[in-house]
Amino acid sequence: MLSRPRRNRKSISIRDMVRETQLHPSDLILPLFVIEGKNQKIEIESMPDFFRLSIDLIVEEAKAAYHLGVPALALFPALTDESKDPLATESTNPDGLLQRAVREVKLAVPEITVITDVAMDPYSSDGHDGLVEEGRILNDPTLDILAGMAVSQAEAGTDIVAPSDMMDGRIKHIRQALDQNGFSEVSILAYSAKYASAFYGPFRDALDSAPKHGDKKTYQMDPANRQEALREVIADVNQGADIVMVKPALAYLDVILAVKSAIHLPVAAYNVSGEYAMIKASAKLGWLDEATSTMEMLTAIKRAGADLILTYFARSIAEILSN
Ligand code: PBG
Repeated sequence: MLSRPRRNRKSISIRDMVRETQLHPSDLILPLFVIEGKNQKIEIESMPDFFRLSIDLIVEEAKAAYHLGVPALALFPALTDESKDPLATESTNPDGLLQRAVREVKLAVPEITVITDVAMDPYSSDGHDGLVEEGRILNDPTLDILAGMAVSQAEAGTDIVAPSDMMDGRIKHIRQALDQNGFSEVSILAYSAKYASAFYGPFRDALDSAPKHGDKKTYQMDPANRQEALREVIADVNQGADIVMVKPALAYLDVILAVKSAIHLPVAAYNVSGEYAMIKASAKLGWLDEATSTMEMLTAIKRAGADLILTYFARSIAEILSN
């Protein structure tokens, strides 16, 4: 035999030497759900060991994550029904929950990168990412609402706005609004290829943000399509995105690879709530080992081409990596 691939696997040190993909804490972004109150920590039923946190605890989480080498947080506000309306009015409140959270985190941990989501759903009484009129999701009238939301987040001090709504043309619209308001340094992480996925279920539980009627299939992508992902990504690159994202991650590794090969921007992937729930549920039953299966999953997402991974496992994996 001329070729014996097993020689390169014969010891821990050789395996370490030839390993092609290495996960680092700096690859990870920790999403967090913010609630009102003080010292509030409420577990999300479909996301064991993951909590909605009040701002004071979000600040503690930011410190701990940053200390472990996680460079960024993605913040999502969980609002009560009373503060939701069809126009997502609360999203531009300068003293809104998200805006206060951004200010507090930047004050306590100025070095950490804060990412804020731009979409109507956490604020919308319809639970959709765009404006609803007679059951239809309107594209162009939504753009001004998104732009206002992005500017409000920038005023609060966010570093990166992350439009997750999948309306057409929003990256350009948001870029122009940010620039016109003096925020040319605020970056845009575009949820470019975001699929209409069943794996968002636990996230919608966390924010109580499920659509009140219909589904998101007229704006989020059909899971069957890959070509279309490139169309979306290229559009966002041309409109000024700084980082593009594929979401979900695990069932879309081919899309991550295709996107990474097609463009010259950093690519993020969102290891979504359902992917977290699958591992947690089977670990609870004793059917999977949580740490090794999580490492394998995140390494695979990076191997496919993701430069950055949003994951609810960011803190626990950073802890393992730093030991
Ligand atoms: C909404 C948004 C969603 C997620 C991030 N931003 C859900 C949705 O589109 O319904 C999902 C994240 C996850 O499942 O972890 N704009």
